[in-house]
Amino acid sequence: MVLTVRIGPTAALSDVELDALRALFGAAWPDGRFTRLDFEHALGGVHFLVEDGGEIRSHASVVERELDADGRRLRTGYVEAVATWPAHERRGHASAAMRAAAEHIRAHFELGALSTGSAPFYVRLGWLSL
Ligand SMILES: CC(C)(COP(=O)(O)OP(=O)(O)OC[C@H]1O[C@@H](n2cnc3c(N)ncnc32)[C@H](O)[C@@H]1OP(=O)(O)O)[C@@H](O)C(=O)NCCC(=O)NCCS
Repeated sequence: MVLTVRIGPTAALSDVELDALRALFGAAWPDGRFTRLDFEHALGGVHFLVEDGGEIRSHASVVERELDADGRRLRTGYVEAVATWPAHERRGHASAAMRAAAEHIRAHFELGALSTGSAPFYVRLGWLSL
């Protein structure tokens, strides 16, 4: 198994890759829980694609947002659409995507943020749950 984390902007993704991501999100959040709007929110920044033999196994993206913290506007790398194909979970794929995303955030933003119902997954990677 040769895993790679491919990093690139939305503009670098082909239509086939965007379709592959739609399929991944549909599988990770069944019953249509990942909406078209959620998909749009995941675009426009940088994608972290964990691939095995050219197949996308896991994804995270970081988009630029501005968060207001006590009156101060912080340029924020906001994490969206962290997902792994169900058949490939628990092999470290999403953790690899998140480590690359965190490195990108540290290099380019004042703050990293995300919203999740799975806080423990991120806490074990060093994120703070507030
Ligand atoms: C959460 C998710 C991205 C994890 O992907 P993954 O590739 O299996 O993650 P990794 O293999 O890198 O890490 C798995 C570890 O995270 C932990 N973990 C996974 N999901 C978790 C959750 N919901 N809450 C807490 N911990 C979780 C597991 O305990 C596992 O640790 P272990 O192997 O030591 O037991 C994947 O399960 C998924 O796509 N879920 C559906 C979509 C989702 O909930 N996305 C993230 C929330 S916004």
